[in-house]
Amino acid sequence: MALRPSILISALSLMAVLAVPTAAPAATANPTHDSGQSSGAVAVPDDSLRALASRVGLRIGTAVNTDALAANATYRQITADQFSSVTPENVMKWQVVEPTQGTYDWSAADQLVNFAKANGQLVRGHTLVWHSQLPSWFSTDGVTTSFTPQQVRDLLYKHVVDEVSHFRGQIWQWDVVNEAFNDDGTPRESVFYMAYQALGLNGLDYIADAFRWAHQADPKALLFYNDYNIEGLGPKSDAVYALAKQLLAQGVPIDGIGAQGHLDTQYGFPNQMQQNLQRFADLGLKVALTEVDVRTTLPVTTPEKLAQNADYIQMLEACLLVRACISYTVWGFGDAFSWVPSVFAGEGSADIYDENLQPKASYFALQQTLMLASGAPHRDGMGAGRR
Ligand code: G3I
Repeated sequence: MALRPSILISALSLMAVLAVPTAAPAATANPTHDSGQSSGAVAVPDDSLRALASRVGLRIGTAVNTDALAANATYRQITADQFSSVTPENVMKWQVVEPTQGTYDWSAADQLVNFAKANGQLVRGHTLVWHSQLPSWFSTDGVTTSFTPQQVRDLLYKHVVDEVSHFRGQIWQWDVVNEAFNDDGTPRESVFYMAYQALGLNGLDYIADAFRWAHQADPKALLFYNDYNIEGLGPKSDAVYALAKQLLAQGVPIDGIGAQGHLDTQYGFPNQMQQNLQRFADLGLKVALTEVDVRTTLPVTTPEKLAQNADYIQMLEACLLVRACISYTVWGFGDAFSWVPSVFAGEGSADIYDENLQPKASYFALQQTLMLASGAPHRDGMGAGRR
């Protein structure tokens, strides 16, 4: 096992727990270079996903399980080496940051932000307004609440402004509103939607409010709408497209659309993903793949593995081919930490590293695609120019 070259960071005062260890446990004991995307000089393996993606200006991100980050040195090393952006999987959600009304707990999220700084990474903030993982004092089901509609609006304002202000200047992209539509393109009748309707407003007006409030609190953060099943052309992405157009026409400060990218091998690949991303880009918006993983039924067969690799690659290619696609984030990288088995019984193996944090074929598929993205080596010698 080769020694990992030292990491040059500007924030040397950060706690030792945030620094990655000096021995490389993963399969990437290779020469290093500055990823070229961060303000600090951070050395990462030349063939890491983040280094390869930096050649075309793309950020490769991962959702981070902060418990694993604190406890597992291999997990920490891979997070630092392979990714140029991190998303807290859970610790910026309302339920976690305000477990008791009026009492904030930013500790876990702050630690991740510090880890990102120490490792030359940007942070995707996730997520400000979502019907799920709400604090129990506010709503237990995402639909009902004991607060009046006006109180819901006031509490939403306070939550958005307080959280964005706390992290002001430290977040690259915020997922401001998450999953506001049903799969058929109708609005989700969440606690927010219902409150706004009860106030005599359009139920979806909470979205414009949240973007305006977030922008006031941190004018430099890129503000995203984020959803699943909007990767390809279809009724749900049509609804989000109409929303985006309307928000832009109203002067609402929206900067981007995040397509989550939770795929399953039993379904086909989303319809015309590149064209779909491009139509958002043509509105002047950034786009991002924000939560990529590809689940399958267990045990995994060879055809399913091949389908997973193809899905990972095709999503990356769709992003690479759209100039406005600025990041490709996997929703965690290790199967041992994946959300999938607890939600989809009998399914799993969705990530690019296995249960033991060894890179899988899907990791190498992404690596190869990124190598190709910056140009295959030109043939020379006997082969050059010959027909
Ligand atoms: O932290 C508590 C712990 O104290 C308790 O003992 C345990 C008992 O179940 O629950 C723990 O909370 C869990 C939390 O993850 C942290 O591990 C919740 O039950 C569990 O529901 C929660 O799941 C998260 C899920 O969002 C919630 O809907 C997943 O980790 C997370 O990956 C997932 O992420 C979402 C994105 O935010 C939005 N898009 C879809 C994506 C996948 O569902």
